[in-house]
Amino acid sequence: MAKGSKDNGFTALNKHRKRLSETTMREMFAADDARFNRFSAQGADILLDYSKNRIDEDVMTALFELARAAGVEERRTQMCEGEHINITEDRAVMHMALRYQGDKPVSVDGHDVMPDVRGVLKAIEAYTNAVRSGDIRGHGGEQITDVVNIGIGGSDLGPAMVTLALEPYTRADLRAHYVSNVDGAHIHDVLKRLDPKKTLFIVASKTFTTDETMTNANSARKWIAEALGEEAVPNHFAAVSTNLEACAKFGIREDRIFGFWDWVGGRYSVWSAIGLPIALAVGYDNFDRLLAGADAMDRHFLETPLEDNLPVIMALLGVWYRNAWGFSTHAVLPYDQRLSRFAAYLQQQDMESNGKSVTLSGKPVDWPTGPIVWGEPGTNGQHAFYQLIHQGTDVIPCDFLIAARPHESLPPHHDKLVANVLAQSEALMLGKTKDEVVAELKAQGLDKDKIKALAPHKVFPGNRPSNTLFYPQLTPEILGSLIALYEHKVFVQGVIWNVNSYDQWGVELGKQLAKALLPKVQGQESGEGHDSSTQGLLGYYLANKG
Ligand code: F6P
Repeated sequence: MAKGSKDNGFTALNKHRKRLSETTMREMFAADDARFNRFSAQGADILLDYSKNRIDEDVMTALFELARAAGVEERRTQMCEGEHINITEDRAVMHMALRYQGDKPVSVDGHDVMPDVRGVLKAIEAYTNAVRSGDIRGHGGEQITDVVNIGIGGSDLGPAMVTLALEPYTRADLRAHYVSNVDGAHIHDVLKRLDPKKTLFIVASKTFTTDETMTNANSARKWIAEALGEEAVPNHFAAVSTNLEACAKFGIREDRIFGFWDWVGGRYSVWSAIGLPIALAVGYDNFDRLLAGADAMDRHFLETPLEDNLPVIMALLGVWYRNAWGFSTHAVLPYDQRLSRFAAYLQQQDMESNGKSVTLSGKPVDWPTGPIVWGEPGTNGQHAFYQLIHQGTDVIPCDFLIAARPHESLPPHHDKLVANVLAQSEALMLGKTKDEVVAELKAQGLDKDKIKALAPHKVFPGNRPSNTLFYPQLTPEILGSLIALYEHKVFVQGVIWNVNSYDQWGVELGKQLAKALLPKVQGQESGEGHDSSTQGLLGYYLANKG
C-alpha cells in the first residue's frame, strides 16, 4: 500500500493481527525450535533478539513491504544526499556526517562539510587535551576540576546521558555536571559544592537564545565575576553553538567557541561540539570511539538489506504495535545502571521527532504516530512499575538492553543481572496460566477455597512482547551504536508515518505564553484577559510569593 493512501497501508496489517490474535508466542515457540534464529539479527556488534514478539514470517514480510511502499530506502538516500528533508525548516538532516569515518566528501547544499566537521573536532581535541593536562587553567592558575555544562534538551540530555554511561572512562579529578532547568534550585545545588577558581562552564545552545540556558549562563557568569572578578570570566567559559555571534557577545573568547551547523537537529547533536563536556570528562579518544561506534551503526543501517537491518526491524515492530494493535507506549529498560538516563534521552529523540499529527503535506494523519517512550533501569523497575507491565490492562512492548561483560569485577552481580533480564522477557512472553497457578498453590498445600480466591490474582496473561539488545560491553563504541540505532529507528518510523521527524513546533506555544506571562508573574502587568484558571493561579502566586 503506497504512502499517502488513506490508511498508509496499516489496514492491511489488520488481517495479520486478527490471525495472530488466535495464537500466542508461547505456542509459536513450542512449535518452532528455530524461532530465535529466525527472528534475531546482528549489526555493529549488537545482537537483537526480536523473537519474543507477536510475529511470524508473514507478519514480517508484510512489514518489510510496508517499509518499501512507504519509500524508506528512497528517503534514506535523500537524507544521505543532503536533501532538505526537514521541509518546514528547509534544512538538510546530516548528523551522520558528524561521525563519518570514511574519506568521501559529504555534500550539503553543494559544499563538502567534512573539512568543517573535522576542523571543529580538531579544535575540541586540542582544547580538551589542554584542559585535561592543565595547560589551560582557571584565571588564578588553578587546574580545572569541574566542568558545568549549561544547556537544555538536545544541548543537555545527550552529553548528560553519555557521561553517566561512560563513567568507567572518567577521571576522579575532573568531574562533569549538567545544569538545564530554569528552576534556580538546579544551578544552586550544583554550584554549592564547587570552587569557582577550578570551575569551567560550557554554555551549550544551538540557537544561543534559549531562555533557560541564557538565564543559567547569566547566573553562572555572575557567580564567577563575584568570586574572581569580571576579568576572570573569559577563562572560565566556553561555548557551543551555531550562533557564533551571540557567543562572542556573551563574552566568550573566540578560541573557546565551538561551532556546529543548522543541518544538525538539537536532539541529534550529541555528535557535534555539543559533545564537548563528554570529551572533557572521558578524554577525546573515547569521544572519538563514540563517534566511530555511531558510524558503524550508520554503515549497518545504510548497507544492510531491510530484512536484517536492526533499526528497520525495531521501527517496523513499533509500527506493528502502534498501528495494528493500538499499543500507545513503549518501555526502554536497560539492565545497565549506567544507562539510567537513556530512556530520558530517547524521550526527546523519539517524542520530539515523531510526536506529530500532520503529514508532510500538512494534512491531519489518520493513524497514531509516535508512542509514549519511558523507562528506567532494571532491576529497579522490577520492584516498581513492572507489576503493570506483567498484569496491567495495557500491553507495553519493551526493549531490554544488557551487556555480556560488566566493567567491574564484582561477582555475582552481573550473572544475577543477566538472570533477571532473561527472566523478565521470558515471563512476559510465557505468562502463567490458571492451571499452572492452581497446580503451584496445590503443591504449596493450600485448600480449595483459598486456591479459588487466590488463583485469578496470580495468573499472568503472558504473550507480552519484548526485544532484547545484547552487546559485549558498554564501551564508547557500543554506546555510539546504540544511540544511532534508535536515531535510525525513529527516522524509519517517521517515514512510515509520513511526518517530519526533524522539526519541533509543538514546543513553541508554551515558550510564547511563558514570555507573555512573565511580566504578569512579576507583578508588572495585570493578568486580565487570561482565562479564569490562569488568573486564579496567578493570583495565588502573587499573594503567596513572599
Ligand atoms: O525547545 C525545544 C528545543 O529547541 C530542542 O529541540 C532543543 O534541543 C532545545 O530546545 C535546546 O535548544 P538550544 O540548543 O537552541 O538551546
